[in-house]
Amino acid sequence: MPTSDHQHDLVVWGATGVAGRLTAAYLAEQYTPATLSLALGGRSRDRLDSVAADLADRNDAWEEIPTVVGDATDPESLRAIAERTSVVCTTVGPYTRYGTPMVEACVEEDTDYCDLTGEVNWVRESVDRFHDAAVDGGTRIVHSCGFDSVPADIGTLLVQSYASDEYDAPCETVRIYVDEVRGGVSGGTLASMVEVFEAASTDPLARETLRNPYSLAPPGERDGVDPGAQRWPRKDRLRSVWTAPSPMAMVNERVVRRSNALLGYPWGREFRCSEVVTTGRGLKGAAGAGLVAGGLGLFTAAMSVGPLRSALQRYAFPEPGEGPTEAETEQGQFTVRTLGRGTGADGPFTVEAEFGADWGPGYGATARMLGESAVCLVREEVDSPLDGGVLTPASGIGMPLVGRLRDVGFTATVSEATSGDGHA
Ligand SMILES: NC(=O)c1ccc[n+]([C@@H]2O[C@H](COP(=O)([O-])OP(=O)(O)OC[C@H]3O[C@@H](n4cnc5c(N)ncnc54)[C@H](OP(=O)(O)O)[C@@H]3O)[C@@H](O)[C@H]2O)c1
Repeated sequence: MPTSDHQHDLVVWGATGVAGRLTAAYLAEQYTPATLSLALGGRSRDRLDSVAADLADRNDAWEEIPTVVGDATDPESLRAIAERTSVVCTTVGPYTRYGTPMVEACVEEDTDYCDLTGEVNWVRESVDRFHDAAVDGGTRIVHSCGFDSVPADIGTLLVQSYASDEYDAPCETVRIYVDEVRGGVSGGTLASMVEVFEAASTDPLARETLRNPYSLAPPGERDGVDPGAQRWPRKDRLRSVWTAPSPMAMVNERVVRRSNALLGYPWGREFRCSEVVTTGRGLKGAAGAGLVAGGLGLFTAAMSVGPLRSALQRYAFPEPGEGPTEAETEQGQFTVRTLGRGTGADGPFTVEAEFGADWGPGYGATARMLGESAVCLVREEVDSPLDGGVLTPASGIGMPLVGRLRDVGFTATVSEATSGDGHA
């Protein structure tokens, strides 16, 4: 039974794609028709019916799973989905190409929304076009509820909540370390990266969004002291490990800064955050950091040149719809560590959070992060002063998401940073 007047609690739109199928499979396994009125959405009736039949076969609790058809090129069909639904959870990407009409439909129909986007240029477009209307309507539009950007945003929320409770002061700086990542990548994700580079080559606003560390902050607040992402290999003074630039810093750091701004700057106007990949200690760590930084630099350079970008997409990348198998996504792993430093009444302190799981970060774990974000919205398990707007995981859902993810097997711990482990 739906928990509101809507026909469906939750529609997974994009359920025929790699991430959507995994999210739908997770929700069908974790919930029953009595606990969640779930429907699957997509553009092809046949493909949807086949996914729905497969999931019903695999889960005794579901005799059948309803399906709804809607195409990103047909706004009427999206309004019809949004109208009947409490929460739309969408994996239809690249979002720069297909995402806007569904956000618009959800804002018009006051339907809460969450997605998996890492396309920072498109998040900026969504902020500029829909934030005010979503605030007025009390509609929660929560972007980036997957590996981009839940570990960074929720890790920051964990260290800041701990600092506030224990030291009555915020962490002035937060450093997010991607310590371990094991998992595959899909054609859909690579197509979304292509879309970001494409936008940067043609659209001045996209270029500004990628250049300005504060580009996702509210209008009038788009500058500050934070210099933005690390560009070179560097030995980290806090942990004595080598670090390299993180490919996800571009979106994750901006999302964390947006969380601070939307929450009213509880972490201070001078708050700084950075995300890096750790590569270990000593010579091996230094060489690893050089390799990661060099590889990322080469990839970025190649993707910035139109013909090379097209060639990579055509000959090297998997097609959209292709990606790791369900079994492969269950085998990965990730650990993201967040260190926050601040100054309390008794002097400086350092707080450490660990967030991770034994599933591939971009798919097995992302399906659970997105699915549980959507369930938080359905059940209004939200700890936020904001009733609506274009939001982030930390500002739009907050700590209830941590609780749900812990319950389904994620590690999410926070404590004072231990001395003797290289921490200051
Ligand atoms: N944040 C993260 O950590 C994370 C992780 C994974 C993925 N992602 C993002 O999630 C998105 C999806 O990735 P994916 O690998 O699942 O991609 P995918 O396999 O290509 O799936 C895309 C989905 O969009 C649907 N679609 C395409 N055009 C449409 C249209 N005009 N109208 C309605 N539906 C349409 C496809 O339907 P058909 O099946 O009918 O073609 C499919 O269901 C990408 O943007 C990716 O970057 C993010």
